[in-house]
Amino acid sequence: MGKFQVVTHPLIQHKLTILRQTSTGTKAFRDLVNEIAMLLGYEISRDLPLEDIEIETPITKSIQKTLAGKKLAIVPILRAGIGMVDGILSLVPAAKVGHIGMYRDEETLQPVEYLVKLPEDIDQRQIFVVDPMLATGGSAILAIDSLKKRGAGAANIKFVCLVAAPEGVKALQEAHPDIDIYTAALDEKLNEHGYIVPGLGDAGDRLFGTK
Ligand code: PRP
Ligand code: URA
Repeated sequence: MGKFQVVTHPLIQHKLTILRQTSTGTKAFRDLVNEIAMLLGYEISRDLPLEDIEIETPITKSIQKTLAGKKLAIVPILRAGIGMVDGILSLVPAAKVGHIGMYRDEETLQPVEYLVKLPEDIDQRQIFVVDPMLATGGSAILAIDSLKKRGAGAANIKFVCLVAAPEGVKALQEAHPDIDIYTAALDEKLNEHGYIVPGLGDAGDRLFGTK
């Protein structure tokens, strides 16, 4: 079974509390999503491999550590996942970015895939799939199905969100027991419309000001 981790750093909890509030406007919401994504990025990159290189300081030659150059891809689930990309890119600027477009049918709550555009060598990359919300889990499950169909290695996939519902975590773990899941918060439940309670509302609409 992959890892499931709630990342409870005080800065993350503080920023998430502001993010949740109705009174937080679009610009602040966008900034906070990126800031929290960056803080999560610190945790999800913890096991990136290092290698030794020889460098020269003003004093002497020395053997030091550097990232082993493992290829990374950040894959946001559109639309709301886009809000997390820059925060993570600020830590790993050389990462490639793929996109998976998906929306939830508001009646059936079933995800519908409308776009997949990935780096050609996605099968050789460590992949961070990002989406602020893990609600029923349908979107995350379908996005990861899509990646695996294109050769992405399960051991190389981490799903990263800001707010998760227990129902979504369970569904994602059942469908893809081999991936790691990171979230900034594990909330109480879903309501009858498939929204996370207490949650933060519709992440896409709040990020892009569409409602
Ligand atoms: C939201 C969110 C997730 C999905 C989560 O997207 O960004 O992708 O819902 O719900 P699930 O776990 O039940 O699938 P939405 O469908 O609202 O699309 P949008 O990002 O384009 O607004
Ligand atoms: N998608 C959202 O944007 N918010 C939720 O609470 C659930 C799904």
